Amino acid sequence: DPARLSPQPVSPAHSQPLRTALTSVLTHARSLTDGEVASYIPELARQDPEQLGIALASVRGTIHAWGDSEAEFTIQSISKPFTFALALDALGLAAVTEHVGLEPSGEPFNAISLEETSGRPLNPMINAGAIVTTSLIAGDDDAEKFAVVRDGLSAFAGRRLDVDEDVYLSELDTGDRNRALAYLAQAAGTLASSAEVATRAYFRQCSLRVNARDLAMMAATLAGGGINPLTRERVVSEDVARWTIAVMTSCGMYDASGDWLVRVGLPAKSGVGGGIVALQPDQFGVGTFSPRLDARGNSVRGVGMLEQLSKEFGLHML
Ligand code: DON
Repeated sequence: DPARLSPQPVSPAHSQPLRTALTSVLTHARSLTDGEVASYIPELARQDPEQLGIALASVRGTIHAWGDSEAEFTIQSISKPFTFALALDALGLAAVTEHVGLEPSGEPFNAISLEETSGRPLNPMINAGAIVTTSLIAGDDDAEKFAVVRDGLSAFAGRRLDVDEDVYLSELDTGDRNRALAYLAQAAGTLASSAEVATRAYFRQCSLRVNARDLAMMAATLAGGGINPLTRERVVSEDVARWTIAVMTSCGMYDASGDWLVRVGLPAKSGVGGGIVALQPDQFGVGTFSPRLDARGNSVRGVGMLEQLSKEFGLHML
């Protein structure tokens, strides 16, 4: 019911230590000026590089938000774990892993990644694996598949998400490498739809607009075992939430995943729109937004904020 998915008010930060810590996190992040706004999707190059926001959502539904937490940007690769969760929930782990693996690739997000014997992309967090995941979503064409993805991601966020048509068209126009990845998977027999259907649905999925608060809610839904903390809707099963968090832990930050696990120690996923989600199981989700990216496609200030938060609050899982 879309009416239920209306925006929720942002609660003020009541806790003084949290407010003080977050102010210092934002101030420190503002001093980080490395990195470049993504430009291989031309429309993304138009983003304001200075934007900076962060939001925290507890599994009980409390939200704290700072900076440009309402500024919208495209979800990009952060859609991948959530679409993976939807595919797992619909088909089960065994069926999904016939098409896509669960192993870190140690390679960039756009790598040509297909296991030699099985023809499966290494994992669902890199583009090749994400396109295969989207092909597994129910629907006879890209419009039907995308409708399922959009409803599912909206349920994770607790509000209706819309597509940024300009970013979609820009990616459709320049996404030959993704098309090639889809055709390779199709040739290997691991794609569950035609390559064109899968890539068009995937491009739309990546072009969904979110803000830092949406990301925090989406992550909190996974952290809470698949139940959205505000709408109380069960979006995916507890097992699916756990499997998804596991894959974020091993593969979410691409070829920086090992380094991230040592330094931050939270399951996370980044996107070239400048967002990052991170979460602590049973506790909370975080969403950060800042468009300048490092060489691996992870937001420089987002990484900086999550590193500092993890240190300050002892959030490392180990
Ligand atoms: O397919 C692409 O290249 C983009 N739609 C998404 C890539 C992405 O976000 C990688 N993340 N850091």
